[in-house]
Amino acid sequence: MTTLMQARDIRRYYSVGSGLFSRKGTVKAVDGVSFTLREGETLAVVGESGCGKSTLARVATLLETPTEGELHIDGHPTTDAAARQALRTSVQMVFQNPYGSLNPRKTVGAILQEPLTINGRGNAREREAAARAMMEKVGLRQDQFGRYPHMFSGGQRQRIAIARALMLNPRVVVADEPVSALDVSIQAQVLNLMMDLQDEFRLAYLFISHDLSVVRLIAREVMVMYCGRPVEHGPKESIFAQPRHPYTRVLLAATPSVDPRHRKTTITIKGELPSPLNPPPGCAFASRCPYATERCTAERPEPRLIAGHAVACHHAETIG
Ligand SMILES: Nc1ncnc2c1ncn2[C@@H]1O[C@H](COP(=O)(O)OP(=O)(O)O)[C@@H](O)[C@H]1O
Ligand SMILES: [Mg+2]
Repeated sequence: MTTLMQARDIRRYYSVGSGLFSRKGTVKAVDGVSFTLREGETLAVVGESGCGKSTLARVATLLETPTEGELHIDGHPTTDAAARQALRTSVQMVFQNPYGSLNPRKTVGAILQEPLTINGRGNAREREAAARAMMEKVGLRQDQFGRYPHMFSGGQRQRIAIARALMLNPRVVVADEPVSALDVSIQAQVLNLMMDLQDEFRLAYLFISHDLSVVRLIAREVMVMYCGRPVEHGPKESIFAQPRHPYTRVLLAATPSVDPRHRKTTITIKGELPSPLNPPPGCAFASRCPYATERCTAERPEPRLIAGHAVACHHAETIG
């Protein structure tokens, strides 16, 4: 299957604290992420708030350039500005909050036609026809064409946001917590829609979520991130059946059931996340890890293949 996105050791650092009273430093928001995303597949990125998911999304959608590392989209490098411009429409984004991401003063019809207008696609009649066809595909009615975002429910608004993302026929959709703001009963509908659209358009999804029950439903591959680095990465079945990293185990334990009535959506672990500003030299999880030894605080574990997926833990074999 065609590889649509390839990330090699992506890093995204921010310089912070140039003010008089703040300490200068570097935030390593994303610190060494690699993956391959193929046509029709979903890679889910999971981890607590602040672990670098949205930063990775901004890099993957070409909104930001990586500090280091390589990103290929549809076989093309994204290093120079011209290539990035040419690839910009190939990757589209869906955000968590469908309230903030839709212009309240524009009708659904206008919102959907806008990407076509901006990119000079078609004439007025063709653009309207394309917008109407896309409304149909995401389950909106034709009589809703002239309505404004506030006239829709949260789930319908996310359908509009998804429709807008697909107007330019992207190959990859980066969805940053696309159902986290929705009622649990609505989440499944939107996820099912996304899966149907993926089949129809052979889309690749980079799907960001902190909710493992959502990930379990939609992902093919899972990447668990901690403090900007992947700690465990591989096929969903393998990760869920045989989690090797202590952090993944904690995440799974915090998600007791896929049953929507019993599931928890927040992850709770004892201890603080280390600051991504000047992070510790060894394993970032060591301060919260029950298995941590001296080696863990001194030496950063690199990902190794164990039992079918990559694990970045010195003790992955012994605790397995
Ligand atoms: N523009 C920025 N400048 C400085 N720090 C940033 C910037 N963007 C994100 N960060 C920091 O990078 C880390 C990762 O943030 P983010 O990617 O938003 O995580 P997540 O989406 O997983 O919650 C956080 O510590 C955040 O404060
Ligand atoms: Mg985020």
